[in-house]
Amino acid sequence: MASSAAAIVLAAGLGTRMKSSLPKVLHPVLGRPMVAHVAAAAAQAGVDRLVVVVGPEGDAVARVVAPHPTVVQHDRLGTGHAALQARAALEGFTGTVVVLCGDAPLLRPETVRALIDARESAGAGVAVLGFEAAEPGAYGRLMLEDGSSLTAIVEAKEATPEQLAVRWCNSGVLAIDGAALWGWLDRISNANAKGEYYLTDVVALARADGRACVMVPCPEQEVMGVNARAELAVCETVAQNRMRQQAMADGVTLIDPATTYFSWDTRLGRDVTVGPFTVFGPGVTVADGVEIKGFCHFEDCTVAAGASVGPYARLRPGAEIGEGAHIGNFVEVKKATVEAGAKVNHLSYIGDAFVGAKANIGAGTITCNYDGFGKYKTTIGAGAFVGSNSSLVAPVTIGDGAIVGAGSVITRDVEADALGVTRAEQVQKSGWAARFRDVKRAAKLALSAKK
Ligand code: UD1
Ligand code: CA
Repeated sequence: MASSAAAIVLAAGLGTRMKSSLPKVLHPVLGRPMVAHVAAAAAQAGVDRLVVVVGPEGDAVARVVAPHPTVVQHDRLGTGHAALQARAALEGFTGTVVVLCGDAPLLRPETVRALIDARESAGAGVAVLGFEAAEPGAYGRLMLEDGSSLTAIVEAKEATPEQLAVRWCNSGVLAIDGAALWGWLDRISNANAKGEYYLTDVVALARADGRACVMVPCPEQEVMGVNARAELAVCETVAQNRMRQQAMADGVTLIDPATTYFSWDTRLGRDVTVGPFTVFGPGVTVADGVEIKGFCHFEDCTVAAGASVGPYARLRPGAEIGEGAHIGNFVEVKKATVEAGAKVNHLSYIGDAFVGAKANIGAGTITCNYDGFGKYKTTIGAGAFVGSNSSLVAPVTIGDGAIVGAGSVITRDVEADALGVTRAEQVQKSGWAARFRDVKRAAKLALSAKK
């Protein structure tokens, strides 16, 4: 059985370069705050206790990561000092403690797991997730011997030219022996170029105590941190590409992967086909065999098997599309159930509504659900037929099998199998149009003769 692991997520950074009133770690990737991705990766890796270190204005972060506890780092004195703030919250814990960064949302659970396993199987004091940097720049350098054995991490500001030439860098993710961690953190000093307590000093301290330290390599992209909006956009693209690859691996056809946008929790069944320029907002579940014909927008909704949606459809929160139903072009559905086999094919707004099985909703039908004060429900029975360009003024019920005449404004219930129609009677005046044209032409001729 794997021993238990805990995590400390560092998120007290100011994020100044984001130029935002939102704390940096709450900026979303795939529609989910970055710090929530980090916490989820840790949880999926088998971490069962997690503490987030936030700055003095960390209330919003605390709400997002709840029920995980947060601790406040009042003065930003460095990563070693930040980790130390979690001591009371992890009192008595002697398993592996993983330190993670709240602004690096691409880290995968299997990588966190591999780091924990590497530390435990080597009996190491510290295991560090390292990467070979394209541009090592300001990253801490990993001092390695024999490939993966680590003697120290040297921060760029402290490094000699030889050390700076090392390409292996510290990702900022470390797995540390929890039984020794707090003793090492206590011994870290701030006598260095930045006057900060460097968490990275734990490696040299562990080695001084006779403990082995190891480096676990990982791709640079996976440990990419976000400091500015341009990096946030890069992370978003990487995360979107992962979702696209996963969807296709799971049996979804994406006609144009690059213009299909996912949320972190998008769930698409097998043999779903997604046309180009489709956006899945949060909370979307699409069952097997659904055809999405492109240019569609989904949010907090479900689509049952075999339905067809779009092109140019918008499914808003609470839309529940039944099996084999058709939602066509320029149709908006909000907080409405459209039962199996029903058709809403063109130019409609269906909001706060129930549409029964196999009902047919004509082009341009609008549920008038709002009077400026409240929202009201429209119920359309199974097999009902609503003629084109009808306004259904809620609250109102159209019975099973009823027909609503095209162009009607329906303000009262229509009983089952009845016809409801509110049109004025049609009149016909024979020859009227021809006489009208004669009169108009004559008048126009008389006018031009005068000039
Ligand atoms: C740190 C590492 C460096 C590594 C790099 C990877 C140290 C001393 N250096 O450098 O070896 O290559 O990350 O990105 O650890 N934070 C706090 N409180 C603080 C300081 C930082 O919570 O007092 C948090 C930040 O919000 C961030 C993380 O710790 O999530 C890393 O801090 P940052 O300032 O980015 O560290 P670097 O100097 O870049
Ligand atoms: Ca950084």
